[in-house]
Amino acid sequence: MSGQLPVFPEIDPDDVSSNPSGNRTFGEVAARRLSRRDALLGGTAAAAAGFLAAAGAGTASAATATAAAPAAAPARHGGGGRGLLGFAPVPTSTDDALTVPDGYVAQVLIPWGTPVRPSGPAWRPDAGNTADEQAQQVGMNHDGMHYFPLGRGSEGSRRGLLVLNHEYIDQELLFPDGPAEMTPEKVAKALAAHGVSVVEIERRGDTWRVAESRRARRITGSTPVTFSGPVRADHPALRADGPPLGTLNNCSNGWTPWGTYLTCEENWNNYFGTTDPDWEPTASQARYGVSRGGGGFRWHLADPRFDLAANPNEINRFGWVVEIDPENPRAKPVKRTALGRVKHEGCTVTESRGRIVAYTGDDQDGDYIYKFVGQGNWRVQRALGRSPLDHGTLYAARFDDDGTGTWLPLEHGRGPLTRSNGWADQADVLLRTREAADAVGATRMDRPEWISVNPDNQDVYCTLTNGSGWGSAVSPRTPNPYGHIVRWTEHRRDNAATTFEWDLFLLAGDPAHDPETTLDARDVFGSPDGLAFDADGRLWIQTDVSNSTQNLPERGHENIGNNQMLAADPRTGEIRRFLTGPRGAEISGITFTPDRRTMFVNVQHPGEATAAWGAPGPDDPRAVSNWPDFAPDGRPRSATVAVRRRDGGVIGA
Ligand code: FEO
Ligand code: CA
Ligand code: CA
Ligand code: CA
Repeated sequence: MSGQLPVFPEIDPDDVSSNPSGNRTFGEVAARRLSRRDALLGGTAAAAAGFLAAAGAGTASAATATAAAPAAAPARHGGGGRGLLGFAPVPTSTDDALTVPDGYVAQVLIPWGTPVRPSGPAWRPDAGNTADEQAQQVGMNHDGMHYFPLGRGSEGSRRGLLVLNHEYIDQELLFPDGPAEMTPEKVAKALAAHGVSVVEIERRGDTWRVAESRRARRITGSTPVTFSGPVRADHPALRADGPPLGTLNNCSNGWTPWGTYLTCEENWNNYFGTTDPDWEPTASQARYGVSRGGGGFRWHLADPRFDLAANPNEINRFGWVVEIDPENPRAKPVKRTALGRVKHEGCTVTESRGRIVAYTGDDQDGDYIYKFVGQGNWRVQRALGRSPLDHGTLYAARFDDDGTGTWLPLEHGRGPLTRSNGWADQADVLLRTREAADAVGATRMDRPEWISVNPDNQDVYCTLTNGSGWGSAVSPRTPNPYGHIVRWTEHRRDNAATTFEWDLFLLAGDPAHDPETTLDARDVFGSPDGLAFDADGRLWIQTDVSNSTQNLPERGHENIGNNQMLAADPRTGEIRRFLTGPRGAEISGITFTPDRRTMFVNVQHPGEATAAWGAPGPDDPRAVSNWPDFAPDGRPRSATVAVRRRDGGVIGA
């Protein structure tokens, strides 16, 4: 081990709740449900087996899968050949390497610093690129991603636009002098390394490469943007110094049936701070975790745009879902305010009888799951020149202990959201979405991350990554360092419905430490985060075990290895590990070509400080990882990998 061992806070910031409401927690609801089932079925084991319907419950919801005993579950590790998973699983790994199954190859594509047009400024391994250069290069910390085919049929699987998020930055790796004194140039470079990249790529034979493109562009923290929906662009709360610029902390994503990309602003509160001794957070700011010191980026020391006291409304411009037209490089990104202002993990869009339904998790311990249901048929809305994302109803989820749930509308004038209760109008409800969801009684969840809809039956799956168990008791397990996946079936399989039935698809974890996990030594993993169904109904699960925990025996993670990606067959409950990542990285972001013969996956923050391996710094950027270049004078870089089968077959089959 080289480099200094970093000191981590005992508790990750996302695991700290800023929700003071007395709303029920998912942990209480789940525990109560378990005890009800216990009484119903007369035995804890049978009750738990029915409740955890993952193995063998198939497409039935928990409410109908009451008797799924473990013995009835099909073999979870294959053998019949009838399942969706046709690859040999890879073992866990602590190597500084990316591993895929036998018969597969992984090509590193567009690492941080790659010019988005081949003619652009070249990457400098000494972190010497300027802010202007970074703004023409792929950003840092690749996250949510989508492939938009260019051309019809097989042509669309050979050429396309890869659109991907850059969630945050590692200061130790982005700047030659690391996190030393903040300067305007460093803020500008940090802003340029955030946001979204649009890159045109093409495949020749088995190899992908970046093509010259009129569509390629960077959207950064400094790109002009606009607002639409109930919080209009000219709303007083959005009036700040200068025009609205940029998008930040772009975590997961979504895409629409009309061909646009959705990027989601997650931990935006981290970028703002102040040294003004008189500044105090408003109640609403406190609810979003806004604080004097922010997340340690210290931009406010060099750029008054991010000073909470000097420019108080700038922060209201963040926390939104942002729509980007990948085909038109001149189109401004649009912040769609009808979808609410939270710490959006992602925005998963599906359709129900012509209406748009968009699911989003608010990833903080004790925060909520939301869905937006568009008004009327989206094609009609588009024909009328209206965005289907500007008109509709936003709901927050309440999970009940009888296995049902209700979507609670966040509509001004309904329920508690009235003028007499201090809610001015719908724009006010949306600007303070978290408080509105507190008021209607949504269920406090344990860090909702990605959401995906099963193409076979429209069931909805959401990763609840970990957290809680640190005293907040949001989780069904205490402590809960491993996370779980919740699943629900909307009433009559109509995703626009206002009621649903729910169960737990799986409890992650290591059976050596946690007897309640539904995994075993072969498919052990923790902290499910990225989640995506492919067109065949395989469920891909990507993990983000915190670097404060990864590989540490004292945190129950010595058998789990580096972060990884697995595939689950929800029809049989079988799970196989498909990929393991390099040191310090999480795996996040997944998309496919239409022929499903290339899968793109993102490796985020390789080489970041870890409790197990140490910390990078200006003197030794390679202390934790040197993936993917392994150049003696280089530094680790987030990257997309293009995964193909040597025989050209469908990925995972
Ligand atoms: Fe950006 Fe919640 O992960
Ligand atoms: Ca995530
Ligand atoms: Ca993360
Ligand atoms: Ca995460």
